[in-house]
This record gives sequence, structure tokens and C-alpha cells, in this order.
Amino acid sequence: MWARAARFLRRVALLVPLALTALALLLLPRPQPFSAPRLPSPPPPKEDLRQNLITENEINLNQDVDDGSQKQWFMSGGEHRPWKHDPHAKLFPEDAPDNDRIVEQLMYALPNEEDIPLKKILLANGLGTWGVTGGRTEFKRNKCPVDRCTLTADTREAETADAILFKDHHTPFNVKRPHSQIWILYYLECPYHTASLRPTSLDVFNWTATYRRDSDIVAPYERWVYYDPLVTERELDRNYAANKTKKVAWFVSNCHARNSRLQYARQLAKFIPVDIYGACGSHHCPRADPNCLEMLDKEYKFYLAFENSNCRDYVTEKFFVNGLQHDVLPIVMGARPSEYAAVAPHNSYLHVEEFAGPEELANYLRRLDEDDNMYNSYFKWKGTGEFINTYFFCRVCAMVHANARRQRNAHYTDVQAWWREGACTRTDWRPRDPP
Ligand SMILES: *[C@@H]1O[C@H](CO)[C@@H](O)[C@H](O)[C@H]1NC(C)=O
Ligand SMILES: *[C@@H]1O[C@H](CO)[C@@H](O)[C@H](O)[C@H]1NC(C)=O
Repeated sequence: MWARAARFLRRVALLVPLALTALALLLLPRPQPFSAPRLPSPPPPKEDLRQNLITENEINLNQDVDDGSQKQWFMSGGEHRPWKHDPHAKLFPEDAPDNDRIVEQLMYALPNEEDIPLKKILLANGLGTWGVTGGRTEFKRNKCPVDRCTLTADTREAETADAILFKDHHTPFNVKRPHSQIWILYYLECPYHTASLRPTSLDVFNWTATYRRDSDIVAPYERWVYYDPLVTERELDRNYAANKTKKVAWFVSNCHARNSRLQYARQLAKFIPVDIYGACGSHHCPRADPNCLEMLDKEYKFYLAFENSNCRDYVTEKFFVNGLQHDVLPIVMGARPSEYAAVAPHNSYLHVEEFAGPEELANYLRRLDEDDNMYNSYFKWKGTGEFINTYFFCRVCAMVHANARRQRNAHYTDVQAWWREGACTRTDWRPRDPP
């Protein structure tokens, strides 16, 4: 009787805050995660702006709601660190096939820091190409939750290393490979721009580290994280269309891309003004000049964030930095629509494949151009999260330790097939009609 009553009370105690939260979500005007908008890459504040920021931050601290203790350590000002080992952490691709597992890897902790031996990670291409120093500096400096690793570039240690990281190429060592040693292949560029491996190098890698979301250690160009996954929009405090007189901008230096982006842009220009800057167009703005990207904030409504190749998950800083981190609506071409959706903030861009072709896209852009409310609906994600540092080496260290607990040995029987087969297309991703 008492036990049942206690259970009931416990259940009610659990449900009440949930119900209240749900009610609040339904009734209140959309809750804002922060009283101060924290845009991903704010311009250096002017004096008067800085005054405002300071006051708003102080208010935040007083409210005691959104202070750093709630945010995870890898977010700006975040203090929440993993304090407990989770034996069920989803770190490897087989644990969570549709997830890049970056946050899980960053929030992984070892069971007992004291007596766990250091893991030695050999960087086969040297420390310089990675911009890191040897030893434990990289892990200590970044305050990695798992920092019991040491980096070396000394190939004489190839036989005793726990893991070897190869960048772009595979140069075999003349030493016996211990059975437990993990070989990792890292690629920054897409398959068109990475060299083929020798046949003897196809079946030697245990893990991949690339921008592909099914890599063991996903290394994206940028990673967006919401402050609160339930809050993907906020009310705007400004009009992103204000004062803009120009339509579409495109910065491009390589006119011979492995997709039809130049033809597409030229078609589009028949229906709406497209200012093409760089070697393939008639407008000029030197790449190093910061005013070039500033034009996107102030003058243009749309920006063509077209990648040079249409490859699976291949989304670069053209989209994340030039596009999203400016006050302009990016139009994307590159990865599949579903792949952009998986990595981009909600409602932050247009994909060319959402439209039958350039003319239909231009018609839609003209509608947005005439309707500030519609145009502004693509900027409501700003301030709801941030682009994080994904601390690549913290995660490599965590994964090398975690592998000891993994149920199985893993390796790619043909890493080139994984990397290349069906990964890229020279046309768009839409299914073709049979001839
Ligand atoms: C638009 O221009 C006016 C006048 O120069 C200025 O006061 C206003 O701040 C500008 N708005 C934006 C959003 O830049
Ligand atoms: C790594 O891959 C090799 C073959 O490429 C395999 O023999 C070995 O068992 C794998 N090791 C681990 C720890 O998964």
C-alpha cells in the first residue's frame, strides 16, 4: 500500500515538471535560449555594441538559467564535462548508423583516470602537417576529457604505437605491426582530389577519419550544435533584407568543376541578376579582402555556395563560413539534399535540387526578394546554437581508449571502395529516367 503510494508520488513528481515544460512550450511565446543573440561568428563589436553585450551577459548570469554549467565544455563558455564513464556510449559507426557521434565522442570519459596507461599515437606524416606539438600538450591544452594519450612523429616508434594516423597517403613502415595497433586513414578533400592507394594498402586500415558522416571519426569542415535541440528558431530582432539592393553573388576561382555549377549559375543569371566574382565572371574582388565577404552581409540577398564536386556529405566552408556565417541566404549544390539537412541549421539554405531547374529557382528567389517575411524566415536559426570546435585529437584519444572495450575488431577490406564507389556524381543526385 505505502509502497504503491510512494511509487505513485514519485511518478507524479517526475511528471509534473515535464507537464509544466510542455505547457510552457505550448502557451508561451517561443522561448529563447539566450537573452543575448549569440551569432556564430559575430563581427568585432563596435564600442557601443560591446556595452550592450556586457550588460546582457550580466543579466544572463543573474538569471542562472543559461550559464556555462549547462552548456557542454566544447561550446563557448561551456563548463559541463563528462564526469562518469558510460559503457554504452555510442562512439562507433555500428552504434549509431545515422549519427556522426561527434558529441558522444567529446562527452566520453574513462572509468578511472588513475591507472589507465597512456596511448601512443604516431602521426605518420609528421606533427607539422597537423599543427600540433608532440607529447601530451595537445590533450592537456584543450582540456580533453580523455587526455591519456601522447603524440609522436618518430617512426621508430611504429612498433609500439597504439594507433597510427595516416594523412592522405599510406607509407608502410618496415616493422611488424602489432595485432592491436589501429591504423587510421584521414582525408580532408573529396574523392576527386585524393590520390589512389596502392593495392597493398587497401586492406590495412581499421578506421577512417573524413568529413563523411559514416567515418569512424567524423572530421567535418564545421559542426553546428543547438543550445537546446528543441529550440531551432527564435524571433528576429532585425530585418535581414534591409538595405540590400543586389540579388545573387557567387565567388568562384575554378571554372572547371566536376559538376555543372558554372552552367547552372549562367542559366540562373538569365532569370535573376547573378554577380560572378573571380576568374569565371566579370566582377572582381581580391580573395584576401575582407570587404568581399562583407558585401554578402550588406548588399546581397543570396549567395551561391556551390561546391566544386557533388560528393556524398561533401559540405565545406563555402557553405558553413561564407554562407551561414554571413547575413545572406546560401543556395547550395554539392551533397544530396538529405545530407545538407543532416548537418545544417533548420531552414537556413536552399538546395538547387528542391527546384526543377534554374528558372524555377529564380522564380522562387524573386518571391523571397519581394517578401521580407518569407526571406527572413531563413534566418530564424541564428542565435539558437553555434559552430563548435570538434577537437579532433581529443576524440582520437577517446576512441583509441574506447576501442579496448569494443566488442569486435574492425577493418576496411577495401578502403578505396568505401571511399569512392557511388560517392560522387558529375550530374545532380536526382534519379535518371532509363533511356
Ligand atoms: C539600413 O540603412 C539605414 C540608413 O543608412 C541604417 O540606419 C540601418 O541601420 C540599416 N539597416 C541594416 C539592417 O543594416
Ligand atoms: C586492424 O586491421 C587489421 C587488418 O587490416 C586487423 O587484422 C586487426 O585485427 C584490426 N585491429 C583492430 C584492433 O581492430
